[in-house]
Amino acid sequence: MPANKPKFYLTTPIYYTNGLPHIGHTYSTIVCDAIRRYKRMRGYDVVMTTGTDEHGVNVERSAKKAGVPESEFVAKMAAEWRALWDELGVQGDEFIRTTDLKHAHTVQWLFKQFRDNGFVYPGHYTGQYCIYDNAYVDVKPGENCPDCGRPTETVTEANFYFKLSAFQKPLLDWYAKHPDFIQPEARRNEVLSFVEGGLRDLSITRTSVRWGIPVPGEEPHVFYVWFDALTAYLSAVGGPQYEKTGFWPANLHLVGKEIIRFHAVYWPAFLMAAGLPLPKQIWAHGWLLMDSAKMSKSLGNVVRPRPIVHVLGMDALRYYLLRETVFGQDGNFSYDALVQRYNSDLANGLGNLASRAAAMIEKNSDGKIPKPAAFQPQDTVLATKAQETIGEVLEQYDKLGFSLALEEIWSLIAATDKYLTTEHPWSLGESEADQQRRATILWTTAEVLRIATVLTHPVLPDSTTKVWSLVGQRGLPGSVALDTLGWGQLLPGTQLGKSQPLFPRIEKTEAIERMESMEKEEQKQPSPVTALAPASAPAAGGAAAAAAPAAAEKIGIEDFAKVEMRVGQIKTAERIVGADKLLKLTVDIGTEIRQICAGIAQFYEPEKLIGRKVAVVVNLAPRKLRGVESNGMVIAATVGPEGRPVLAGFPDEDVEIGARLK
Ligand code: MSP
Repeated sequence: MPANKPKFYLTTPIYYTNGLPHIGHTYSTIVCDAIRRYKRMRGYDVVMTTGTDEHGVNVERSAKKAGVPESEFVAKMAAEWRALWDELGVQGDEFIRTTDLKHAHTVQWLFKQFRDNGFVYPGHYTGQYCIYDNAYVDVKPGENCPDCGRPTETVTEANFYFKLSAFQKPLLDWYAKHPDFIQPEARRNEVLSFVEGGLRDLSITRTSVRWGIPVPGEEPHVFYVWFDALTAYLSAVGGPQYEKTGFWPANLHLVGKEIIRFHAVYWPAFLMAAGLPLPKQIWAHGWLLMDSAKMSKSLGNVVRPRPIVHVLGMDALRYYLLRETVFGQDGNFSYDALVQRYNSDLANGLGNLASRAAAMIEKNSDGKIPKPAAFQPQDTVLATKAQETIGEVLEQYDKLGFSLALEEIWSLIAATDKYLTTEHPWSLGESEADQQRRATILWTTAEVLRIATVLTHPVLPDSTTKVWSLVGQRGLPGSVALDTLGWGQLLPGTQLGKSQPLFPRIEKTEAIERMESMEKEEQKQPSPVTALAPASAPAAGGAAAAAAPAAAEKIGIEDFAKVEMRVGQIKTAERIVGADKLLKLTVDIGTEIRQICAGIAQFYEPEKLIGRKVAVVVNLAPRKLRGVESNGMVIAATVGPEGRPVLAGFPDEDVEIGARLK
């Protein structure tokens, strides 16, 4: 890595661990991940921090309710958040937990700076507190939180105050001198009028809460969660030794609009009090709404990311979230619009163009990128559009205008589809002139595809990597330096890579049904800790290979007789989009044809199963696996350490379909 790379540090909010992520949280994290990937491709040395905010009264109570120590509760929850980000292809560089030791040291160190600089004094707080927002709120006892509308609690306790009032003028001066500090404009105005209205000193320690970072020498004081959590941004990149890493100040704190005040008022005041550099920018995005209300656990209108990822893939969710909502504004979520986007933009758009182009090159040019001959005006028009798209997309990405950036790329894809239709290379003949024309059209198409792939990579990291190798490119699209991307760089003669399924088309009703049913399964989990127990539907699905004996005790013949097993014959077998391990089978069991899911996809080719006779448990209650109804179970042995399923069958005898196994 060259030493002169400019550094770029960005952060997601540090998420609460008393709940599991929904797609509102996912939105913030995916945006950050896309920025991170984009900045890398622009030549920056990037660090992105995400993490979990694990202290406070809420966690104390949730852990108590779950009957586990707080440390165990938060460890499980933090692991769950982390695992989800992995599944979504989020490449966080730092995952900070506010229970990390290095973080506690940074918080205590920062407090010492305040004290040494005369910004802290002891006092008492009596007033209302919102445990959901962790905010001191100016309402009367019995009144609800003005921000989230939930009940407040009366708190009377000794604490240490931070002299926030001393920072009114320095903050206003800072905002005036750095007009881009708070984005977008509407949020900047909101913060400005809040600060202009006067700032009251802020309690930054608590004595009625136990689960927090201790204030050294001042027990039972623990730090107020917002002071604790905001400091995580600094702990992640060196804490007191931030100068050594070179990543402080942060370039960008990305947050939801409801927490702008904490980031744009308290946090810069804390940093000023300690004499530390201030972040360059705070960007507050809007909310994802469901049925016109902010998606949130307390309203019960949340949508979880996993069902979407399992059915449509992580890129589909990433694309939808960034494409559908204008960054900074609120956006509505609907499964219908999600599947619509998936089918129209991904399956019929990018996916279709890639597979069409590859198939034509395969057929006409021996799987190698053809050498273009003389360009005609229509080729040049497309080339110019592609070149202009590069500039426009980079400009939009720089402004976090994801939606417009993607619109530009998809307009290029649409123009290329149209170009293929008008140029119809498939109807050209075998004359020298026709062959040359075809080569030029196919090269031009592949070149657009290469450019579109690179430009889309920050948003669709997974599928663009597949398209990249499909068009025969080495390495990863994310390693392309965007500043050098330009028309005409595609080398003729490059051998195409292996074709892989990109975005299989999916029937809308079926997709929605599957996502909603998986969503319901997830929501059945009663408490966060219970929700962390292994999912009841095994990944291997309905094959008996996945089932382990519940107990070793013996059963009587009457118990065995309860299980009705019959010989079945597989009629159809197909893969399930988003469920790598499952096959959807239809099986003739003599009396009827059943749909059964079996966890054998990694070991059996669907086409080779047609006609095969298998043993089927026919009287199992139907259930849904990955949202697909399974009505019975196919029996298989579990072989070897990886538990390879081997289907039980009747190779030597001609058994009748429907015959009972006894
Ligand atoms: N722990 C604090 C943040 C501390 S940062 C030092 C917190 N955590 S949170 O788990 O509630 O996450 C809030 C963030 O999640 C929001 O700021 C926003 O980024 C994201 N979202 C949560 N619900 C959302 C929507 N419905 N829509 C969009 N984003 C939302 O606040």
